[in-house]
Amino acid sequence: MTLHAIGLTGVKGKITTVTLASLKAAGQPAVFLAAYDYPTAVFADRAGVDMLLVGDSVAMTVLGHRHTVEISMDEMLVFTRAVCRGARRPFLVGDLPFLSYQVSDADAIRNAGAFIVAGCDAVKCEGGARIVPRVQAMVDAGIAVMGHLGLTPQSLGQLGGYRIQGKTLAAVERLAEDACALERAGAWSILLEAVPAEAAAYVRERLSVPVYGIGAGPHVDGQLVISHDVLGTFVGGIRPRFVSRYADLDISTENAFRQYARDVRAGHFPKPEHCYPIDEADAAAIRAAAGGSRTALLSNDGERTGSMNRVAATADRLTNPTTLQRQDPDSHVLNRGHPCP
Ligand code: KIV
Repeated sequence: MTLHAIGLTGVKGKITTVTLASLKAAGQPAVFLAAYDYPTAVFADRAGVDMLLVGDSVAMTVLGHRHTVEISMDEMLVFTRAVCRGARRPFLVGDLPFLSYQVSDADAIRNAGAFIVAGCDAVKCEGGARIVPRVQAMVDAGIAVMGHLGLTPQSLGQLGGYRIQGKTLAAVERLAEDACALERAGAWSILLEAVPAEAAAYVRERLSVPVYGIGAGPHVDGQLVISHDVLGTFVGGIRPRFVSRYADLDISTENAFRQYARDVRAGHFPKPEHCYPIDEADAAAIRAAAGGSRTALLSNDGERTGSMNRVAATADRLTNPTTLQRQDPDSHVLNRGHPCP
């Protein structure tokens, strides 16, 4: 059976470097997502995503830092363990944070090893020829290493900010030299970030290992996106050209919290069905002992109070201009402005 024949959900069983090499050979792009927590990992696994990166971008997407360099190894491992607990089938890549591999081979091996012990299948590190000794050291320790070239956010100061890389022939040749050096050092794959499609195709032509891209066009062996970008939950000013939203969870999350706040303030939450029932005799004894009007009001005629609250809550929602979002079953995109039924 060919890999294409396996179907829409792609390869069955745990994805490995061997599976990924087969996908490349079959010309089937790997689906690669940056994810940072247990539920996202579970949903991505169920959705048939092939590879997950626990990226140091979590510093910005989840922790609210301005840069990726602000996250530590210990923090990375907390997110990594959560993702590893949630994802069974995808190939898992841990992102070595700033200063976890630059200083010495020993640091690189120890920190890369910590990602493997946490459950990752590979690690990723930024840089080309200058980090070859580190890549070799990690590979010699038995660790699968993905090289990251192009826009490398851990070197933002040197790059002069979030700038597209590989825009000239000379720059693309340097990129290809770096990629070849990483391959020779034993990297099992290369990730290219924010480079023109022509540059990615040029680099890929010169390598035998898989080349993945984030903002690198279609001529690569798989596409990486950040889950917060896909879901619409990234809070911040950076919006790269390649970001494609498939949901507006920012709007639906905020609306849900607004609705909850309104219900609490209006006394519509909790309703009787949210409360723990007890025997009427016990309830009556407690009410009598308490003598409080609020407890008495809740329990004396719970059903009537509950249905009246539901009517009031529905009316509130229908008349309120900020309405909850509702998913159109025929689309990836959430409609705006649907009143909640
Ligand atoms: O941390 C991350 O998510 C990354 C990607 C942007 C490549 O390194």
